[in-house]
Amino acid sequence: QPSDRPLSVAGFEAIAKTKLKQQVWDYYVSGSDEQTTIKRNRSSFDRLLLRPRVFRDVSVIDTSATLFGRKYLFPVGVSPSAMQKLVGGEGELDVARAIAARGTLMILSSNSTSKLEDVLDAAGGPDASFWFQIYISQDREKSSRLIKRAEKAGYKALAVTVDTPVLGNRYNERKTQLVLPKPLTLANLEDNDPTASSKPSLNRELLQALTREEAAQIQDAAKKRGLLNASDLTWHETIPWMKQQTNKMKIVVKGVMTAEDALLAIQHGADAIVVSNHGGRQLDGVASTLEALPEIVDVAKGRVPVLMDGGITRGSDVFKALALGADFCLVGRPALWGLAYDGQKGVEMVLDVLERELTRTMALCGARNLQEIEKGMLGVERRDGF
Ligand code: FNR
Repeated sequence: QPSDRPLSVAGFEAIAKTKLKQQVWDYYVSGSDEQTTIKRNRSSFDRLLLRPRVFRDVSVIDTSATLFGRKYLFPVGVSPSAMQKLVGGEGELDVARAIAARGTLMILSSNSTSKLEDVLDAAGGPDASFWFQIYISQDREKSSRLIKRAEKAGYKALAVTVDTPVLGNRYNERKTQLVLPKPLTLANLEDNDPTASSKPSLNRELLQALTREEAAQIQDAAKKRGLLNASDLTWHETIPWMKQQTNKMKIVVKGVMTAEDALLAIQHGADAIVVSNHGGRQLDGVASTLEALPEIVDVAKGRVPVLMDGGITRGSDVFKALALGADFCLVGRPALWGLAYDGQKGVEMVLDVLERELTRTMALCGARNLQEIEKGMLGVERRDGF
């Protein structure tokens, strides 16, 4: 074992920073506007303290979790993040191999640099029980074809991202537009226009508009090219439409931050909810996902599984989210730091760090399995000193 092997996610992050090109690093690490939410995602975990129970025979710890009847060995999967080949190695293929090797869940981004079919092949086929994330396009035929492809390939669920009717205000991306270097492409796009993936999407173009007039011009020009942005999605239209497109896949709603929307998601037939603020990249100034989690759990618990992502970098963070009622956690950036460190092996190492940390936290708190992780094992930091 090399002695410089990082022992924490923070260690992988520090090395990723030195390995990635400045622009790529900025793209992955940034949030929107003043980045208050991205900071809050992390700091909320620190405000919650642990209340350990002792003397409970923790000689055997079981971290397995079940979603849609499938048992995963470990309650931490990987969130969908775009263009993973930019980070290194074989991008999504390496992440898929690592996730399959560790027996957990991958949600593949529709904006991936690998074909969705190839990702599942790399994971050993449909038995990997991966999910596919989708941004529904205004061109419903296109989205329909993508959904059918995902179903045919063997993805078990479709995670529709609902927090992105327009792009968040990311200063870095506005200053230096991220363009995929050749030969990378957005591999799930249809290939009618081979230059399509090197062109900014309409949403990205709109991010550059400085005035109302410029925005209107960009939208008009796009309309002439047949490009539309999908800011007209609704619960009553979009979710039932998605259900009609698939026979087998579960529908997961990713990006819920309130009890009201959790209820609407369930009423419209969602099979699971992902509490997420897009890693602080969309609306800045929202609560952290840990803060939003309890009100959503109140509505959803016992009806549909609740997953959460945002700011998780330690096994104790996972423990805290589970204690507040999450059924499963996801990490976005930490997997990318592992990928930058050493491809598939690096992602496995990051997952192993989180697994050891979670198992150790469970043992030290007296929880032998995920069901024994309870709210009473948490306390809130007391700033007044008593
Ligand atoms: C994302 N995220 C995201 N979400 C999604 O539904 N589709 C996508 O294509 C992307 N792309 C993407 C790119 C990058 C660079 C990042 C950092 C994030 C959001 C992602 O799924 C997840 O919600 C957050 O990354 C979780 O926060 P942490 O774990 O990164 O703090």
